[in-house]
Amino acid sequence: MVRLAITSLTLLAVSTTQAACTGPAANQATVDLIAEFEGFSADVYNDPTGNPTVGYGHLCQQSGCSEIPYSIPLSEADGKQLLADDVIPPQDCITTQTAEAVTLNANQYGALVSWAYNVGCGNSGSSSLIARLNNGEDPQTVIAEELPLWNKSGGQVLPGLVRRRAAEVDLANTATSDPALPAGGC
Ligand SMILES: *[C@@H]1O[C@H](CO)[C@@H](O)[C@H](O)[C@H]1NC(C)=O
Repeated sequence: MVRLAITSLTLLAVSTTQAACTGPAANQATVDLIAEFEGFSADVYNDPTGNPTVGYGHLCQQSGCSEIPYSIPLSEADGKQLLADDVIPPQDCITTQTAEAVTLNANQYGALVSWAYNVGCGNSGSSSLIARLNNGEDPQTVIAEELPLWNKSGGQVLPGLVRRRAAEVDLANTATSDPALPAGGC
């Protein structure tokens, strides 16, 4: 009886932790940075690696981007809404992938959300950037050293990615007293 009770309490604690792990909203500077570097397109186009894309860098899941609840050509207002929706998975994955002991302010967190929006949550999760943060290294140092290495697409260094990584490092280096991580319950 006692053992059963402990087991189910443990399971409950695990599932509660995972369900509650919603990343804090990225700040306005982060959303502006992503919008600036993705650029806006009302119509579907192929990104540098040939993926159909619309709005502020939304990767289409279906042909013609039929999964999005907005009409194409997209208005800029609908594009901003789509970006607000699309920034949720990178917020959640940066929050989930970083250990509880990692402390990031809103600008450091935003820089990593912009990066994960760009490279995807699979790549952020297996990165040495996240591993070094989880190993207790100083976030300022890790971000400045690791983000600029993510400058290639399709094996080529892209000037746009070099500039974006530099802007993300600048954002992370901008002092703020707004906290982001750890987020309660994650
Ligand atoms: C691009 O990334 C590589 C590592 O993949 C790095 O050695 C190089 O310095 C970076 N280039 C720039 C311009 O940041």
